[in-house]
Amino acid sequence: MANEKTMPKGPGGPRGMRGVAKPKNAGKTIARLLGYMRGQRHLLVFVFIGILCSSLAGVAGTYFLKPIINSIEEGLSTGSFDVAAFVMKLVLMGCIYAVGAAGAYLYSRIMLNISTETMRKIRVDTFTKLQSLPIKYFDTHTHGETMSRFTNDTDTLREMLSQGIPQMFSSSVTIIGVFAFMCILSPLLTMLIIVMVVVITLVVKKIGGQSSKYFKRQQQAIGAVNGYIEEMIEGQKVVKVFCHEEEAKEKFTRINDELFEAASNANTFASVLGPITNNFSYINYALTASIGAGLAVAGVMDIGTVASFLQFTRSFFQPITQISQQFNSIINALAGAERIFELIDEESEPDNGVVTLVYAMKHEDGTLFEASERTGVWAWKYPQPDGSVTYTEVCGDVRFENVVFGYTEEKTVLRGISLYAKPGQKIAFVGSTGAGKTTITNLINRFYDVPDGKITYDGININNIKKSDLRRSLGMVLQDTHLFTGTVAENIRYGKLDATDEEVVRAAKLANAHSFISHLPDGYDTVLTSDGVNLSQGQRQLLSIARAAVADPPVLILDEATSSIDTRTEALIEKGMDTLMEGRTVFVIAHRLSTVRNSHAIMVLEKGEIIERGTHDDLLKQQGKYYQLYTGMFELE
Ligand SMILES: Nc1ncnc2c1ncn2[C@@H]1O[C@H](COP(=O)(O)OP(=O)(O)OP(=O)(O)O)[C@@H](O)[C@H]1O
Ligand SMILES: [Mg+2]
Repeated sequence: MANEKTMPKGPGGPRGMRGVAKPKNAGKTIARLLGYMRGQRHLLVFVFIGILCSSLAGVAGTYFLKPIINSIEEGLSTGSFDVAAFVMKLVLMGCIYAVGAAGAYLYSRIMLNISTETMRKIRVDTFTKLQSLPIKYFDTHTHGETMSRFTNDTDTLREMLSQGIPQMFSSSVTIIGVFAFMCILSPLLTMLIIVMVVVITLVVKKIGGQSSKYFKRQQQAIGAVNGYIEEMIEGQKVVKVFCHEEEAKEKFTRINDELFEAASNANTFASVLGPITNNFSYINYALTASIGAGLAVAGVMDIGTVASFLQFTRSFFQPITQISQQFNSIINALAGAERIFELIDEESEPDNGVVTLVYAMKHEDGTLFEASERTGVWAWKYPQPDGSVTYTEVCGDVRFENVVFGYTEEKTVLRGISLYAKPGQKIAFVGSTGAGKTTITNLINRFYDVPDGKITYDGININNIKKSDLRRSLGMVLQDTHLFTGTVAENIRYGKLDATDEEVVRAAKLANAHSFISHLPDGYDTVLTSDGVNLSQGQRQLLSIARAAVADPPVLILDEATSSIDTRTEALIEKGMDTLMEGRTVFVIAHRLSTVRNSHAIMVLEKGEIIERGTHDDLLKQQGKYYQLYTGMFELE
């Protein structure tokens, strides 16, 4: 399980595990992102203006070097220096830079707001979808995969919106601006720069291609190291129990060394790349300076133009490098956005049910009518084609008619299950592990739909009952108990949010959880953390029984609820359960046969089929599988 959670495969894995993933349809994704900015889109105009101001101010400021230097030179050569004009030029240059700075502040500020708001909306949509997904989704997607939508993918997307795209845009504007001014200043020197850019691009491509191979390997190695650490933390107890610390360290050292190797290779290339491009730009600077100086001496060009041009060559290479860096991260972020949208576009759990569950009251003549408050009587409310509604009382009559089911098409888990539970009956399922006991309960509450055969509840096909109402009418104690962060009382109240303190205590007493809760340091106010680690396994089960009991449902399903409880507590629970069971239909799954002994009917399951059924005494008389199980002649697998 830990393995499944921590070692997600494919693009959804931990950050380091991904190479540069390419978006499938970048245009559509961008359009959808823009859709999320609805209401703020007018602000994008200011972002656009801000970026234009900041980039062009940088370019124009550099251009201003020309008149400033020329006026100094003129002053030096003619001997008369117009201080006022010179100061004016300086002030103007200062103003241009000030406008640029204001523009930069404006656009980054607005973009930050837009991206934060966009991410908020996307997170809401993703989480909302997560709550409506069918259980099947979680069967086919690992936790890590789903989690990374909320963590890695959201992070890269936020970075792209707040930094990547504005920077890319600003760099492009700068390049165009600088190029235009360079052409104006000196077409000849500009030609030289173009040749240089082509050479550098070729070299970077050659070396970059090599390094990307190593970077990919490095990312895989980081993924392996992270996955291993996560797994070891989760499985710490198992590691200790089997004294596998040394092996764990050895394996870690091995994969860590692989990471070291991949990282040093990747970085060797990357570290070569920086100096190479730097050196090229120095060579370029020196060449331009020499040629420019020659032209100035020859009188073809003034000294201000040369100085200004030299400054431009410097600011030409920087945005080119920036764009190439941002490009990859934007591509990555778009692929991440697609993964988020994929989750948002997943199909929600379908629900065509029309029959709903309502509180009801009974007239003296036996007719039912709807009540606004809990009355202890529940009714199914049917809408009729003519717009009227009819009510039938919820009794808890559950029937399976030839139900066939498999989680996947290849494997049938339940083969032709037929059974009935009359109101108030206790039906028990026993059988080997993997026989299909939990699967039966998964079908009653419609975690999965039945493809073949049908299940009826008080005569209604459960497919016609609204899922939330069906589940509200069932009290479930799942095989794997899960408690939430919060107090004990809050956890019990999860079964019925408006339960009073008295109701919570009553439910706890019914489940025999009251006595251990009273011994907790803060009683019902004791805070449980991370799935109730501060409780014992049995105590957690008692709490989950209390949680099911507080809802006071007409049907109860207990999946091995008593397996982690000692014999004395089990007897206590059984007593409590008997009270809990009164007037309810109960499905109970237990490996302990003592728990199921007093059931109205016991179903013995084997490989998805009911092979024996009857009361405890009947089954003993039959001397079949149950008899073997009961007399201990047959070990439960
Ligand atoms: N989510 C799932 N996806 C695919 N197959 C599953 C899934 N859950 C259970 N199965 C398969 O269905 C079969 C029945 O499983 P089920 O959980 O119903 O057994 P069980 O009788 O409750 O066993 P146990 O006594 O161990 O709880 C098993 O073979 C199991 O591998
Ligand atoms: Mg089970």
